[in-house]
Amino acid sequence: MNAPAKLANDPARQVWEQDRAHFVHPWTHFDSFRQDGSLVIERGEGSHVIDAQGRRYLDGIGGLWCMTLGYGSDALAEVMAEQARKLAYFSTFVDTTNPPAAALAAELAALAPGDLKRVFFACTGSDANDTAIRLAHYYFGRQGKFAKRHVISRIDAYHGSTLLGMSLTGRAMDKAPEFHYLTDFVHHVSSPNPYRRPDGMTVEQFRDHLVAELEAKILEIGPERVAAFIAEPILGAGGVIVPPPGYHKATRELCRRHDVLYISDEVVTAFGRLGEWFASEAVFGIDPDIVVTAKGLSSGYIPLAATLYSERIHEVISRPDPNAWFTHGFTYSGHPVACAVGLKNIELMKAQGVLENVRRVGPYLQRRLQALADLPLVGDVRGSHFMQCTEYVADKSTKRLLPDGVNVGKRISDHCERHGLIIRPLAHLNIMSPPLVLTQDEADELVEGLAAGIRATADDLVREGHRLD
Ligand SMILES: Cc1ncc(COP(=O)(O)O)c(C=O)c1O
Repeated sequence: MNAPAKLANDPARQVWEQDRAHFVHPWTHFDSFRQDGSLVIERGEGSHVIDAQGRRYLDGIGGLWCMTLGYGSDALAEVMAEQARKLAYFSTFVDTTNPPAAALAAELAALAPGDLKRVFFACTGSDANDTAIRLAHYYFGRQGKFAKRHVISRIDAYHGSTLLGMSLTGRAMDKAPEFHYLTDFVHHVSSPNPYRRPDGMTVEQFRDHLVAELEAKILEIGPERVAAFIAEPILGAGGVIVPPPGYHKATRELCRRHDVLYISDEVVTAFGRLGEWFASEAVFGIDPDIVVTAKGLSSGYIPLAATLYSERIHEVISRPDPNAWFTHGFTYSGHPVACAVGLKNIELMKAQGVLENVRRVGPYLQRRLQALADLPLVGDVRGSHFMQCTEYVADKSTKRLLPDGVNVGKRISDHCERHGLIIRPLAHLNIMSPPLVLTQDEADELVEGLAAGIRATADDLVREGHRLD
């Protein structure tokens, strides 16, 4: 990480100082921030970013799961400028619209699985998940089922950082006790993490156990009080957790049986990260009632998110009633510049064969990462295509973790950063979610950089007296 003394030129130092004095970052750890400040990223080219001192890094995290087409797309920059000149903004409340918003809604309806033909635009994954929950409430409210308010989520889920998004989130490390959470209608069931399943259980038994637990939770609350189950197809920020085979179909069926809406949070998994436009049906064979997407929808060039829902829901919420208003929406819902970027992004993804690239390079990246399981510290390598994670343990046979204070994921990512690779540290994990245009050579660069970081950290830990088995 940069220290002020290392910043030779004045503009770079000024940015670093302004940032440290005024910019409150998401997920700030005030103690370390005060000491280290920020790494200032100034430019990007393809799958690489360049810092204020001209150092180049392979972006192993795709910005933050969102940079899909790569940095420096003239086509996306031009469409933004063109739309801003033509119509930078106008309200979409009630009954005004703009051409990019209407066209993007139609394009999403065409790409989405099943009868998800209705599209509500938001700016972030958090807003779009809030929308999904409010929509579920409204849907049951329009049927007079006002008791159906409860929502079931999972431990290790990440659904955003609004009050509701963070209440749905189930990652223990995010639940700082100083904040407040909505617990009167949000519930959590177990994380579907096969690596951390109870001792002595097969993966199949674990799946059945999880499904039974979800059903027991629905019955405990009362099906007449449960509105929705929300689930990421692969839990991203919770550690790239791929649930056991058959889990998605069984939980989806359970929801149908109990008249509980199934919300698939595809903020990360949609728009190519698993080689498909949407993963729910194409990868996992399920037809959700509601799908949430953001991030890759605009390739991270501009904030844009969408909540897609079924014709069945729409038929209910739009039933004729002069007193019924869907009182939900944001100033920037259907923002013309953002929607123009969304449309162009889809056009470019098709023209450049981005899904095909992920289907080709993804399995290669996965194979090469799996070979790292032989290195010290590496307990598990998991994920699919361009969502990957390494989990570190002190003892591979017992899966015992190193003490929290070691912060092993961060130590490895710091080593990687010194060698020109950015990966995401998360306690005892590292997460990789590179741009979807990553080439095979860049996949090699990523794996070799990570391997070097793991080896260097293992050497440091042994030198410091830790035992690694
Ligand atoms: C699965 C999932 N849902 C929701 C969100 C929240 O999105 P945002 O940060 O755009 O609000 C994220 C962000 O990483 C996510 O990974």
